[in-house]
Amino acid sequence: MSVVSGKNILLGVTAGIAAYKTAYLVRLFIKAGAHIKVVMTPASKDFVTPLTLSTLSKNPVHSTFYTKEDENELWNNHVDLALWADYFVIAPATANTLSKMANGTCDNLLLATYLSAKCKVYFAPAMDLDMYKHSSTLDNLKKLESYGNVMIPAESGELASGLHGEGRMAEPENILSFIEKEILSGLPLKGKKILITAGPTHEAIDPVRFIGNHSSGKMGFELAKEAANLGAEVILVSGPSNENVNHAFIERVDVISADQMYKAVHQHYKVCDIAILSAAVADFKPSNIASNKIKKKSAVLAIELTQTKDILASLGKEKKHQFLVGFALETNNELENAKGKLHRKNLDLIVLNSLNDEGAGFKKTTNKVTIIDAEDNCTEFKMKSKTAVAKDIFNEILKRYHA
Ligand code: CTP
Repeated sequence: MSVVSGKNILLGVTAGIAAYKTAYLVRLFIKAGAHIKVVMTPASKDFVTPLTLSTLSKNPVHSTFYTKEDENELWNNHVDLALWADYFVIAPATANTLSKMANGTCDNLLLATYLSAKCKVYFAPAMDLDMYKHSSTLDNLKKLESYGNVMIPAESGELASGLHGEGRMAEPENILSFIEKEILSGLPLKGKKILITAGPTHEAIDPVRFIGNHSSGKMGFELAKEAANLGAEVILVSGPSNENVNHAFIERVDVISADQMYKAVHQHYKVCDIAILSAAVADFKPSNIASNKIKKKSAVLAIELTQTKDILASLGKEKKHQFLVGFALETNNELENAKGKLHRKNLDLIVLNSLNDEGAGFKKTTNKVTIIDAEDNCTEFKMKSKTAVAKDIFNEILKRYHA
């Protein structure tokens, strides 16, 4: 799967002959899992129809500041379009549009959207070879790059004029792979391996019963997604959970019991750079698993329990280069207990969630955490979605993790 999967990509089409290739570019982005909207300059509609691009992108295509619908005139909000985008890709970008972008001219919807964009902007120049080499074009390209825009260089080949040389818009496949590589190279966890545990464990009593807990696995899955979005290769060791994940950078390893989780984690720990143990591992397991279903022969049944191995503590003992993060779920003396765990288990960070906080903990989509580092610095966060909490946790890790 591609790094653009799940991302919102706004494609800006300007009036170059290469505009006909944008139909294929939209398909490539869609195939890569991105959401696409298209904004066109009015003149570009002579080269490719809005109907083609709206059909392929599954979204309306806009090229003017307002659209007439029946008796109404609807404003096409360029600010909304720009804010929707995770990435703005202007392809083909003609000499005319590049010049206007470089100078802040704003005489069409595409340019207004560009000026409103806060996201990364890529542009793929397309023009004849002499235009591409012209000093004013070169100045504009330099200027645009100095503003933080990223150029997808034109390629060499046959041009619409019949001449041969540099100036052809990069082929759609090359535009996609350029953007993927560029996004990846800027990600802070690129090349890092991250091990994450999630969910509960189930400890068998007999063939049909187990001891478990209410953990849904959501927090761990959100951490895995965030790690992958930051460019890491993720091993997600999950106990039984209904959560789903589909990301090229996440390898999911399903386990059931604490013993299985211990084994799976130790298989990957040596080569990982960061380990985050968010699983709610059972602290006890039945000393013996009955081979047949236990019958209700007596009014009282006592099951002897034995402690499971503490996976986090075992990683703390073996720790070499790894940055180790644990979780603590507490009901009383929260800070003190969490700090105790942090030092006892040789952690670099601990994420404390208190069951006393409404909206935090098991089966919730929100969480309220305090993050404590090895120097006992505490950072308290507000109640947030678990997706946002995962981002906070990685921000705190990135402030302290130095490869
Ligand atoms: N943990 C683990 N293996 C276990 C138990 C816990 O790896 N057998 C990890 C959890 O994934 C979590 C951390 O230890 O990151 C803290 O879990 P918690 O249950 O809060 O604490 P315990 O260390 O088990 O201590 P106690 O139950 O006494 O509070």
